[in-house]
Amino acid sequence: MTHYPKAAKYPDLVHIYSQCSGPGALRAAEFVADKIALSPAMTVLDIGIFRGIQTCFLAKEYGCEVIAIDPWVDNFDSEGDGKPYVDHLRRNARQWGVENAVTGIQAGVPHVPFMDNTFDAAYSTTALEMIRGFDGNDAYITALDSILRVLKPGALFGMAEPMHQGFPPPADLAPLVSEGELSFDKFVVSPEETVECFLQAGFEVCEAGHAEDARDWWVEFSQYDWECRRNPEGDRHMIEVDAGRWLSFGYVIARKPTGSAT
Ligand SMILES: C[S@@+](CC[C@H](N)C(=O)[O-])C[C@H]1O[C@@H](n2cnc3c(N)ncnc32)[C@H](O)[C@@H]1O
Repeated sequence: MTHYPKAAKYPDLVHIYSQCSGPGALRAAEFVADKIALSPAMTVLDIGIFRGIQTCFLAKEYGCEVIAIDPWVDNFDSEGDGKPYVDHLRRNARQWGVENAVTGIQAGVPHVPFMDNTFDAAYSTTALEMIRGFDGNDAYITALDSILRVLKPGALFGMAEPMHQGFPPPADLAPLVSEGELSFDKFVVSPEETVECFLQAGFEVCEAGHAEDARDWWVEFSQYDWECRRNPEGDRHMIEVDAGRWLSFGYVIARKPTGSAT
């Protein structure tokens, strides 16, 4: 298993998973942040943040300025207060001592409220797959296009999200991921299919694949995520039955072409 020294500084996984909503939590954040080489001089766009603890982690551990967008209000669990997720980001930013380096704006892709060519990098984990699941693949590409627009030419976008291995789910898993109007398999595709979306949006793809610790991150998620603990027959059961055969956590590292001004 890969060692993530920055994430290892924050071992309270009960707390981390109460403020973060995705497999791998801060380890996934470090995985992506390292791949896009975040550094103190950079202004970074974070897309889809839940309660913003990954945003705070990027600002604290990499020293960059982070502008975070999220359109939704928080009705997730008993801590959900019906207020925008960006309000929770501000609370966490004060606790992490990064309130001067973090800005939260209630907005979402594709309606990104920034000028063209603004950001030195973009980052997103476990967020954009929702757009595919709710609104379809064309909406996913439109969302990528809106991120491309606000990146400076040559800037990197690091994205990681639930994906699958590129083949149909095994027969015993299929009923658990394929049933219902908003079934899990409508949200996830393979890294190869995701790369195709990035290319269609106009990105150059530098690297893509499966995070090597994906299975471990899903097991951790099944143990700590609020919904998995509340309803063990839901996603937790699906993750157990999968046993690492089909479900993955994939990533794409992509660049805005240097010749592109918008
Ligand atoms: C599962 S959470 C993960 C957030 C965070 N990266 C983490 O791992 O904790 C996904 C987030 O995406 C946000 N989201 C949904 N639609 C979005 C959109 N169109 N643009 C940006 N964020 C969106 C949701 O409000 C939610 O907070």
